[in-house]
Amino acid sequence: MVIGVPKEIKNNENRVALTPAGVTELRKHGHTVYVQVNAGVSSGFEDAEYIAAGAQMLPTIEEVYGIAEMIMKVKEPIAQEYDLIKENQLLFTYFHFASSEELTRAMLAKGAVCLAYETVERPDRSLPLLVPMSEVAGRMAVQEGAKYLEKPLKGRGILLGGVPGVKPGNVLILGGGIVGTQAAKMAAGLGAHVTIMDVSLARLRYLSDIMPPNVQTMMSNEYNIREMIKVSDLIIGAVLIPGAKAPHLITRDMLKLMRAGTVLVDVAVDQGGCIETCHPTTHEDPTFIIDDVVHYCVANMPGAVPYTSTVALTNATLPYALQLANKGWQQACRDNMDLRLGLNVVEGKVLYQGVAEAFGLPLTDVNSVLTREAELA
Ligand SMILES: NC(=O)c1ccc[n+]([C@@H]2O[C@H](COP(=O)([O-])OP(=O)(O)OC[C@H]3O[C@@H](n4cnc5c(N)ncnc54)[C@H](O)[C@@H]3O)[C@@H](O)[C@H]2O)c1
Repeated sequence: MVIGVPKEIKNNENRVALTPAGVTELRKHGHTVYVQVNAGVSSGFEDAEYIAAGAQMLPTIEEVYGIAEMIMKVKEPIAQEYDLIKENQLLFTYFHFASSEELTRAMLAKGAVCLAYETVERPDRSLPLLVPMSEVAGRMAVQEGAKYLEKPLKGRGILLGGVPGVKPGNVLILGGGIVGTQAAKMAAGLGAHVTIMDVSLARLRYLSDIMPPNVQTMMSNEYNIREMIKVSDLIIGAVLIPGAKAPHLITRDMLKLMRAGTVLVDVAVDQGGCIETCHPTTHEDPTFIIDDVVHYCVANMPGAVPYTSTVALTNATLPYALQLANKGWQQACRDNMDLRLGLNVVEGKVLYQGVAEAFGLPLTDVNSVLTREAELA
């Protein structure tokens, strides 16, 4: 298959969909890989590394879209890319269709095959192409929180790990899923005193078994939250209710209970946030202060560490990309249910229920499309 990797052009997107290691793997299976000049530079991968791995470099985005059967990207195409997309071209990237009717209608009109990273799903209902970004954000939450606890950045002036003779800082984590677990590991590693709250007792039991002794678990409820925020230095919001807006576990009035210089990192801000006073911020201006409490609410935290994020993402996407390239999307989706669930928009039809419901569009059964493709083959 001919695979194309364009340079991302969405504002502040520094990741790239394929590393030189990924090029080597695809080449080993007999595929041809075209990479746009400078596509990997912001993630730390030079053109020379892609060439050494067997990629062919193309100077413009038009040439990459023009030649490729499968486009591998990170972010959804933006308006200036729509016209570059060809009928039947396979696009393997994050789309988040349900949040953009314009994008959905543009891809329907183009007749492209849109396989969305975010809806590829394992039989245990986990989302293997979203997990790596949650892992990055969870670990970063502690790094950023520790930084903003410094006095010049308006924090309490506390070193999370303390020093001999001085007690460590207290970290409260709301939600013990992927983000919360990774955050807890980092905070515990720094020597902080960590509390994870979740509504799932089974999850708390598991975390209690695997976490080091400086991590304790607590049931998440309003009473416990009100008690714990009085003594916490860093509070990390990491809850998720799939398909719903995050619940406001920390309300405006609760800020008064916190000590001045407490730092809030609301990782769940991309789902509306679990702290009422949070609103999305950017890496250029990541924080704001309300009632002397520092709020950090960057909606795309992994964007600040593009090298780590690119490698983490491509570690997860490459096995699927190989299946798509080796078998073609039709056979790969017939053989692999994970990938089949990633099909959102195919040749002018919506195949994903959430997208059809979001915009009142007709839903086509994915199996009927795959059967028809088999008959045509
Ligand atoms: N800002 C960013 O850059 C960024 C990056 C990655 C992920 N995220 C977001 O981080 C959030 C967490 O993602 P995840 O992958 O860890 O999800 P996850 O599903 O693995 O974990 C969510 C956890 O929240 C728990 N929960 C639900 N309601 C709760 C409540 N009332 N109190 C306490 N816990 C509750 C669930 O039981 C679950 O354990 C999501 O909103 C995700 O979109 C943001």
